[in-house]
Amino acid sequence: MSKDIVLSIHDLKKHYQVQRTVVRALDGVDLEINKGECVGIVGESGSGKTTLAKLILGVESPTSGELIFSGSTLMPKRAKALRKKIQVVQQNPMLTLNPKRTIMQTISLPIRIHGSSNRRQTRDEVAKLLDTVGLAPEIMDRYPSSLSGGQRQRAALARALAAEPEVIILDEPTSALDVSVQARILFLLRELQQRFSLTFIFITHDLSVVRNMASRLAVMYRGKIIEAGETRRIFAAPMHHYTTMLLSSVPVVSEEEQLIKPKWTWTRSLFEGEERHSNGCAFAPRCPKETVECWEQIPENRSVGEQHSVGCYHPNLR
Ligand SMILES: Nc1ncnc2c1ncn2[C@@H]1O[C@H](COP(=O)(O)OP(=O)(O)O)[C@@H](O)[C@H]1O
Ligand SMILES: [Mg+2]
Repeated sequence: MSKDIVLSIHDLKKHYQVQRTVVRALDGVDLEINKGECVGIVGESGSGKTTLAKLILGVESPTSGELIFSGSTLMPKRAKALRKKIQVVQQNPMLTLNPKRTIMQTISLPIRIHGSSNRRQTRDEVAKLLDTVGLAPEIMDRYPSSLSGGQRQRAALARALAAEPEVIILDEPTSALDVSVQARILFLLRELQQRFSLTFIFITHDLSVVRNMASRLAVMYRGKIIEAGETRRIFAAPMHHYTTMLLSSVPVVSEEEQLIKPKWTWTRSLFEGEERHSNGCAFAPRCPKETVECWEQIPENRSVGEQHSVGCYHPNLR
């Protein structure tokens, strides 16, 4: 296990005041990300995944906690050179690709900041980047609106790569795409990660998307990481009942998988008004194994094996 930690997150919180209530979008997240790995951040919509991305990118300030990037504290306000080191590719590439700019204009922005002002040279660099993401050079003079969803996402990736980042946050990068396009983008992502030794933080609500991509997973529920560990261990033996619930909706692709797939398939959401307040585990209202203590005190994450931790009083034991 490499100990070359590129990003380290300590007790990170982000609370939003919405009228009279406090939304705990992120409620004490600890995570260490090693150089060159792909960590999957998974959880249902609203679990705080995008908030985590925003804090890492510095577009929002944390309520408390700390981010350390390559040994130094990462503040929301940061120098341009540092900002370039952490890039993002979002679900909607139109948030990155300015509709009023050609692909060339958008992709060349970080390149021009580098210094190369020569137009010919810049076009060559953009063509090279487009080739890297599997797009033809002719695309550079087009506007994002004339591209397909898959092409736009490739262009957004080229824009991220143009900054020569160390870390790329992928926030549901394939969620808006057709399944066949999704598979090709995932293939490209894997290739790029290896080629450029990139560190990926892959955010998704869909566990099947990160299954072959992420070596480790952090499962989020209501602003907290409730289970973390190696992807194959979590798939083979999920410990938190919420993880089991998420896994039960992942399609099975082989007989071997059928054997390890959780037998118990509990997939239910809360009905309107059913939510009861828990001072303890946030999952207690949906959990089939809850007991009195679950409602009274938040279970701390504890180790349940090598690099595997879970925040539950009654984890699945086989
Ligand atoms: N700017 C904001 N103001 C108030 N609440 C917010 C804001 N941003 C996010 N939230 C709330 O924080 C929670 C987590 O949101 P988000 O990080 O977007 O989740 P995810 O990306 O996992 O779907 C949600 O309940 C969301 O409504
Ligand atoms: Mg999100």
